[in-house]
Amino acid sequence: MKNLNQADLVVEIQRLKKEKNAVILGHFYQRSEIQDIADFIGDSLQLSQKAAKTNADIIVFAGVHFMAETVKILSPNKKVIIPDPEAGCSLADSCKAEDLEKFIKKHPGHTVISYVNTTAKVKALTDICCTSSNAVQIVNSLPKDEKIIFAPDRNLGNYIKSIVGRENMVIWDGACHVHEEFSVEKLFELKREYPNAKVLAHPECKKVILLLADFIGSTSALLNFSKKDDADTYIVVTESGILHQMQKDNPSKTFIPAPPMDSTCGCNDCIYMKMITLEKIYQSLLTEQPEVILDEELRKKAEKSIIRMLEISERLGL
Ligand code: 13P
Ligand code: SF4
Repeated sequence: MKNLNQADLVVEIQRLKKEKNAVILGHFYQRSEIQDIADFIGDSLQLSQKAAKTNADIIVFAGVHFMAETVKILSPNKKVIIPDPEAGCSLADSCKAEDLEKFIKKHPGHTVISYVNTTAKVKALTDICCTSSNAVQIVNSLPKDEKIIFAPDRNLGNYIKSIVGRENMVIWDGACHVHEEFSVEKLFELKREYPNAKVLAHPECKKVILLLADFIGSTSALLNFSKKDDADTYIVVTESGILHQMQKDNPSKTFIPAPPMDSTCGCNDCIYMKMITLEKIYQSLLTEQPEVILDEELRKKAEKSIIRMLEISERLGL
């Protein structure tokens, strides 16, 4: 294998993409250099919408496994490549299909809404998927008296429950390790250091963090807010990859990452998101491996919940 430097890798990736009619889709939590070469970057909802529409033959997914799997569910005839199949998700891991199945049996008559941060097996048990961009609207699209199981993120679930004001929501007790680990003490220290800064937080954060936030939203909502708002400094309480786009879109503003208690870098990285590197993208494009493969019966079952989410989102113009 040739030893390529970063500039060579970028050239080779562009060449291979053209030659193979491939696209790179990437999440906002990816490394900066990957965000810069991706054909499309977005939040989980935007990425699934994009995946449903692309004409490319090969989709290289720069993100974590459940996201690439979602792409494959929506595009069964395309080759979907994940540059590192070990790029998992602690939130998806916190909800095993076997356990959810038992939970559903314990709560008969409930409609199951699951965050897309779940495996295909969990999606197959789900009535409607949601992301942090559309969770409120998805819940509100159901009649007020319809009983709901919301899985797997307890922080997002409780936050949504507080907004929609319905008591008939049972929430699965799962969480994302990245968003759970933000330190309230460190956030207070940053607020004291930057008294004029606004706090932007992702709804996967704990309630105590959300109570300190000036704005709460999905990664794309946080990004949009930072563009439209007139403050000049922001403390950002979500995975640090998003700061790259925020800084790019707002060169004159200052963005400060909020850290967990024991952070050495002063920020909070998702180890899984950061497993994807330029080198791995290059290798995966070259070899067209590792490919996401799904059992067709499972894919069909899982697809229904994502299609329902996309239909509701489209109807509501999200
Ligand atoms: P969104 O992209 O929906 O903001 O979700 C963030 C996330 O945790 C993905 O891992
Ligand atoms: Fe999963 Fe959390 Fe990483 Fe998102 S940030 S991929 S929810 S572990």
